Amino acid sequence: MPKVVVIDGPAGSGKSTTAIALAKKLGYVYLDTGAMYRALTLKFLNLGIKEYNDEKRIRNILDNTSIEIKPVDDVLHIFLDGIDVTYQIRSNEVDNYVSEISAIDSVRDFMQEKQRHIAHEYNIVAEGRDLGSYVFPDADVKIFLTADLDVRAKRRLLQKNAFPEEFNEFRNNLTKRDRIDSSRKHSPLKKVEDAIVVDTTNLTFDQQVEKIYSICKKKIG
Ligand code: DC
Repeated sequence: MPKVVVIDGPAGSGKSTTAIALAKKLGYVYLDTGAMYRALTLKFLNLGIKEYNDEKRIRNILDNTSIEIKPVDDVLHIFLDGIDVTYQIRSNEVDNYVSEISAIDSVRDFMQEKQRHIAHEYNIVAEGRDLGSYVFPDADVKIFLTADLDVRAKRRLLQKNAFPEEFNEFRNNLTKRDRIDSSRKHSPLKKVEDAIVVDTTNLTFDQQVEKIYSICKKKIG
């Protein structure tokens, strides 16, 4: 059976950068589950949908949506209905709607099935919110990454080359997403008992990667 390493945690805790570096070190495939929810959010925004309770319409959209992750020049890109949307899915508008859209039951079922399918084929390092608790309860390694809210907001600000005055906006967005992601009924963000917590508030990037890498080496050799 292929190996599964999962990294769950709130927005801005450093999951993506850590998971990319860890996957490289282990020689595994990196799976960004957030990017999948973001791509679908972009589709909803493009279609002008801002009401999410028409279950029939949502199912119809899902039945007619293709989301693929493929390498381009060694970097994984995400394609929505055949179009490369890797950069578009990082917009503030997507940030503002993605949690609400990913709280829809049929959206979660659709994404989770795709994620399990990928894990049947490759050794993966996957990052998300519900991976250790719901999508891959038998994962070989479960990490729960955290960091103080202010540190997370500051990291996001730097990542997006934003102005310091935008700090509160970023902080508010993270708070709102954490609340929605942790309180939804279907597979909310949560730390499961067998997950190892890594708090990155006072760690450098290299330190956090090294720490998780050594946990993986101990657990899977
Ligand atoms: O990791 P990210 O910030 O790119 O994720 C964007 C959103 O997608 C996040 O706020 C909630 C949702 N998400 C989810 O519900 N489950 C996952 N496994 C990954 C992301």
